[in-house]
Amino acid sequence: MTLRFPGLIDVHCHLREPGATHKEDFITGTKAALKGGFTFVIDMPNNPEPTLSMEALNKKISLAKEKAFCDVGFHYGTNGLNTSTFEQAFSNPNVFGLKVYLNHTTGSLLIENQVLLEDVFKSWQSQKPILVHAEGEEKLAMAISLAKKHGHRLHLCHIARKEEVAQVQKAKAEGQKITAGVCPHHLFMTKEDAKKMKGFALMKPELGTLEDQQALWKGLRGGVIDLVETDHAPHTKKEKQNPPAGGPAPFGVPGLETTLPLLLTAVSENRLTIDDVIRLCHTGPAQCFHVSIHHNTNVEVDLDAKYEIKNENLHTKCKWSPFDGWKVKGKVLRVFLRGEK
Ligand code: NCD
Ligand code: ZN
Ligand code: ZN
Repeated sequence: MTLRFPGLIDVHCHLREPGATHKEDFITGTKAALKGGFTFVIDMPNNPEPTLSMEALNKKISLAKEKAFCDVGFHYGTNGLNTSTFEQAFSNPNVFGLKVYLNHTTGSLLIENQVLLEDVFKSWQSQKPILVHAEGEEKLAMAISLAKKHGHRLHLCHIARKEEVAQVQKAKAEGQKITAGVCPHHLFMTKEDAKKMKGFALMKPELGTLEDQQALWKGLRGGVIDLVETDHAPHTKKEKQNPPAGGPAPFGVPGLETTLPLLLTAVSENRLTIDDVIRLCHTGPAQCFHVSIHHNTNVEVDLDAKYEIKNENLHTKCKWSPFDGWKVKGKVLRVFLRGEK
């Protein structure tokens, strides 16, 4: 059976330009997005030259304008010292949120100083959400209480643990305006996979237990989780295989081309419904980040087509996927952007 979905939205991807275009760039990243059914992607600010100023933001906007094959939006970044630029940033229609890092991950945007953090939450006086990379109950609680104090719409990125799902559920029940996303790798893989795949399954947050995974699925179906975000975070095979002396491989895995087929496979196994997929990859993201998609922007999928995910068939510049060799059911056939194939 062939179905037409509205264009899918990925609110969390790392297209790596400028500064790390050996991993990905706006051309390869947005081709990968379209191949995966995403017509609108929001790029993260943790580049080697982070998006901390209007100059850096405008550079990204013009690079994307010149190169991108699908629609691209941006999350602004902060290190706690650029709050004087916030008003200009959130007034820019290309900006959809402010990204705050509460844990160490790829890039240098971690904020650990409480005074700076307070200032960040106080200064982002916009309806556009603050997104946090906050791992574990303590950091999540900190983000949730800061958002409450300053009356912010908060998006919790890549929820990955059973306790975190419970925490989100509780905060929502208390009426707080928060949304939460999960990533496909946490839905389809566990710690056990990480053992076999070494650096290739290393990401932040790290893969969890089977119990964590089950809690994520329950949260996904029950509505505690608002959206699926790919956290497409490409690194080269070489970087994954040869970590710097004494250190771990860089954190992150690509996901733009594998997310929809994996979710459609879950539909074929009755673990999700088609309506869930549309809610998690279109309606949810559109509502959380105030994105509107043109009525002639859509994705045609064949629900019955079976194929094997293969590294060599991917369009991402890094040319690998943690799901290489996985058999999926559900394939993207064609994508239309404002009516154009
Ligand atoms: C991301 C990256 O490489 O930019 N890595 C990751 O493991 N998820 C950063 C992030 O989202 O934390
Ligand atoms: Zn993150
Ligand atoms: Zn990320």
